[in-house]
Amino acid sequence: MNSVLQPLITPQYRCTPFVLRLVRYNSNAQNRWLARQKNDHFTKAAKEQQFRSRAAFKLMDIDDKYRFFKQNQKVLDLGFAPGAWSQVARKRIGSGGMIMGVDLLRCTPPKGVYSLQANILSKKTHELIRLCFARHIQLNKHDQLHKDHGYLQHMLEEELNHLKETEEYKELFSQTDISQNIERYPVDVVLSDMMANTTGIQSKDHYMSMDLCDAALIVAIDLLKPGGSFTCKLYAGSEDTLLEKRLKKVFKKVDRFKPNASRNESKELYFVARGKKTDIDKLKVFLEE
Ligand SMILES: C[S@@+](CC[C@H](N)C(=O)[O-])C[C@H]1O[C@@H](n2cnc3c(N)ncnc32)[C@H](O)[C@@H]1O
Repeated sequence: MNSVLQPLITPQYRCTPFVLRLVRYNSNAQNRWLARQKNDHFTKAAKEQQFRSRAAFKLMDIDDKYRFFKQNQKVLDLGFAPGAWSQVARKRIGSGGMIMGVDLLRCTPPKGVYSLQANILSKKTHELIRLCFARHIQLNKHDQLHKDHGYLQHMLEEELNHLKETEEYKELFSQTDISQNIERYPVDVVLSDMMANTTGIQSKDHYMSMDLCDAALIVAIDLLKPGGSFTCKLYAGSEDTLLEKRLKKVFKKVDRFKPNASRNESKELYFVARGKKTDIDKLKVFLEE
């Protein structure tokens, strides 16, 4: 046998049967996933309606119930790849709005969507997002924008490096309002469908998902307008109620929702939070019970 498994199938590797069982389990799981995808109603409908994935139906279901999208809004879509949620947002806010998608993966965004390949757990990503919204608001016709995707990532990164140590940087990233020129809270809706690769270990997957929800909530506290809306996906587990408590400190209304397109066996659940409050103290949200 000439495969990557060969070094493992030797007498000194006592765990071989386990490794083979694991490989067989994974390939069976993959086959089951492929078969399920092929027969799935939402997968077929996504293809027919030219959505990039069946996830589109989850967001449509959420917004049909809670109605947070309005014409001409500014939307931040965290974990946007392959881009179905951004496509739905684009339809619902119209061409006068703005959408920025952020994802760890490299992905060409849908037409009319700005994008950034970055990790939401990094502080620099939060700075690039703020810079993109600030620049969009100050746009003038002479800006060099890509005709489909607005600012390009390298332009934002270069600009951020250029700004460091300047007064403008301080104005942009100060925690208090020191400038008339910069809108502190430029975003109307923050979406997060972020999910790391699941490990199958439920508590681990849950904690990884909590970290992503917390990072998304920090962005929402920093950038979302008073009255703005936030939706995030959580891999359910023991800390659901902790996230719910945090959300209630930031938003007037918080609901849990399981969209029709979310598979029954999936541990995912969505929090929909509306009506962002004013004067939020981040430390109180995260440190106080
Ligand atoms: C379920 S997919 C999102 C599907 C998307 N909403 C759509 O409609 O096409 C989850 C995404 O979260 C992204 N993600 C996971 N961890 C992330 C992180 N730390 N920063 C940014 N994106 C992340 C993944 O790369 C993946 O593309």
